[in-house]
Amino acid sequence: MKPTKMSSAEEITAEVSEGIQQDLLTWYDTAKRDLPWRQNQDPYRIWVSEIMLQQTRVDTVIPYFENFLSQFPTLEALASASDGEVVKAWEGLGYYSRVRNLHTAVKEVMAEYGGVVPQELPAISKLKGVGPYTAGAILSIAYNKSIPAVDGNVMRVFTRLFALYDDIAKVSTRKKIEQLVAQVIPSERAGDFNQAVMELGAMICTPSSPQCLLCPVQAYCRGFAHNVERDLPVKKKAKPPVHVSVVMVWLTRGDQILIEKRPDTGLLAGMWGLPTIERQEGEVAEATLARALSEWGLEAVISGVKGQFEHVFSHRRWMSTVVAATPQVEQSYPSRWMWVTKERLLEYAYPKVYQKAFQVMGINRK
Ligand code: ADE
Repeated sequence: MKPTKMSSAEEITAEVSEGIQQDLLTWYDTAKRDLPWRQNQDPYRIWVSEIMLQQTRVDTVIPYFENFLSQFPTLEALASASDGEVVKAWEGLGYYSRVRNLHTAVKEVMAEYGGVVPQELPAISKLKGVGPYTAGAILSIAYNKSIPAVDGNVMRVFTRLFALYDDIAKVSTRKKIEQLVAQVIPSERAGDFNQAVMELGAMICTPSSPQCLLCPVQAYCRGFAHNVERDLPVKKKAKPPVHVSVVMVWLTRGDQILIEKRPDTGLLAGMWGLPTIERQEGEVAEATLARALSEWGLEAVISGVKGQFEHVFSHRRWMSTVVAATPQVEQSYPSRWMWVTKERLLEYAYPKVYQKAFQVMGINRK
């Protein structure tokens, strides 16, 4: 029989709560991975790691984390770095608003809190890019505060543990799970407990093949008891990405290439790239470029299509065509454009989609 959907977070008995705490922490003490952000409880390091880990896997994050921390070892060092340096150190990790927000927030911590990461929920939650998950993770791991840190992994573990059929895409479900975690989190080892749940989600209670026979909290798991762990969590499907055809302009003069700083808002905000224009239905790529050149009031000879590739963002799929052109006369260019030599091209930070365009042109990251 399927367990019924709960309407609000239920009370967990002291016996169950203590059992989960003990068994999970005992397991964590022996099974936890030796990850670089677990070397100490420096709130700055933990903050950086949690931001990197938000949309990126642990294995991918490790080298970026180590490089970022060697470049910006302290909060002060990050606060005084330039935007360009900071974004460059994030290059390849994607979701660049994460690092822009982190940089803004770190500067705020310097200015408003004397360089000390706030220890209270209301203050830390006001910092740019610090949502309920990140606030809970930093406060519990760095300062051992009993505050839940509920991300996708934790939602998977808890929906299975308590056989919850609520849609985890809803904010109300996250809040309900926060209430459940708050009942189980032990005050003596709050940070370890939150990390133990994340670790369980990463290593045992995995999305498609949970290893229930090895699970330290199997005895408490209603999902396992009812044999429904693989049906959980319930998540309403996100809309598929919208297809957009774009033309990327490869404009050269002598040994220089033209790059563009993208607008401060919207997709890939503030990143460097190639001028990119949306292609209208039925329009050939050269015609798109000719139309754009005339809108920009520029003259250039279009030499042709250099290659095509696809790139998927979370809500968009770009079908990209790189088209080359050469300006013939001296003219003035939009202020966000900049000519760089081929040698210096890769000194700027580009999102993956433009790195793919560079590959089409035979230019690869070292
Ligand atoms: N995912 C998010 N935060 C994490 C952490 N602190 N350790 C391991 N995986 C994580």
